Amino acid sequence: MLSWDEFNRDEAASVKPPPSEPNAPEPLSAEPPAPPEPVADDAPAARELDAATRSRNEDALQQAIDDLKDLDVSAGLEELEGTASRVAVDDKRMINCRADLNQLVPFKYDWAWQKYLDGCANHWMPQEINMNADIALWKNPDGLTADERLIVKRNLGFFSTADSLVANNLVLAIYRLITNPECRQYILRQAFEEAIHTHAYQYCIESLGMDEGEIFNMYHEVPSVAKKASWGLMYTQALSDPQFRTGTVESDQELLKNLIAFYCCLEGIFFYCGFTQILSMGRRNKMTGTSEQFQYILRDESMHLNFGIDMINQIKLENPHLWTGEMREEATQMILQATQLEIEYARDTMPRGILGMNAAMMEEYLQFIANRRLVQIGLKEQFRGVGNPFPWMSEIMDLRKEKNFFETRVIEYQTGGALSWD
Ligand SMILES: [Fe+2]
Ligand SMILES: [Fe+2]
Repeated sequence: MLSWDEFNRDEAASVKPPPSEPNAPEPLSAEPPAPPEPVADDAPAARELDAATRSRNEDALQQAIDDLKDLDVSAGLEELEGTASRVAVDDKRMINCRADLNQLVPFKYDWAWQKYLDGCANHWMPQEINMNADIALWKNPDGLTADERLIVKRNLGFFSTADSLVANNLVLAIYRLITNPECRQYILRQAFEEAIHTHAYQYCIESLGMDEGEIFNMYHEVPSVAKKASWGLMYTQALSDPQFRTGTVESDQELLKNLIAFYCCLEGIFFYCGFTQILSMGRRNKMTGTSEQFQYILRDESMHLNFGIDMINQIKLENPHLWTGEMREEATQMILQATQLEIEYARDTMPRGILGMNAAMMEEYLQFIANRRLVQIGLKEQFRGVGNPFPWMSEIMDLRKEKNFFETRVIEYQTGGALSWD
């Protein structure tokens, strides 16, 4: 019997070119080159197995052949994947869709597919960011103040578990309930990005030689972190029950509340105090590696947020009966609760003014952010007269102005040419 290596050697010998002068030009010929010899279908017969081996191999498949006799292809697919027919754009719906979910095209929600392409075009990995300056600064007893160290530790503590909560919510709760393949395609991309974010936090924690138990347990032990985590988990609970089904007004509203909790509140409010604090450090040339990791994450997160808002608004558009006065009031209160929890987190992580900011400025910023989240899903602003005390945050988010800090790497990752920063 021939081994794979022997087979390769034989194959290589059979296609060996005729000897020719080194670097000699190809001879010109008036005749077109002869077509290649057709490859015989039965070529592998040269490696024919003996009868006993062939019979043993056939026996190995016998049970599988018997088992497959009763496979009813059409009934199985229809039951599992919706109606068995070609999908038209009008068949597609965000929730409670009966069309085949494995047929990605024709696209109905181009915004979802575009965000999937944009996410892929901006791929990055945490270990590609140099952490040496951070390690030196963190290990130097005079490198950072106690308040600055508190900010680094609290944020790594919160984020290292928060992104796992988001990822779990995506794959264990909402993925199966969003009945549209282009949205699912983006959700899969987002889930991988959440894994990269958790990896990034773990990479920072490990690089800085922190007590991993202390950091990863913070969401149990530090009240301002624990409150945010348990508020989010509350909205995962019902949906992650395998028995949960959409299709009634109550259950569809339950799904909508989950999307508002995770996209508008967790990713849209709970991340903003920490992002602002760490990025403010980077702007002061402190913890620049950690700050660069957070910038990449913030860029991904703002895309997650926009995708979530598009999903919420599309579900509202297709199911206006879900967006009742009561539901609008509840959604508003959810955003206000999240704002209050984030204000408490700001006070806990900034007992004193630091890095050109303080808890009062952060409070105004969070109220400004909350107004935006409310308006983005069609609700009324709740805070009057508030502005953005950190305009540089929006500049970082749209990535057009902080050129030498971030942009070069972004361009290196642009594989599909889908995004242009200028
Ligand atoms: Fe994330
Ligand atoms: Fe996210």
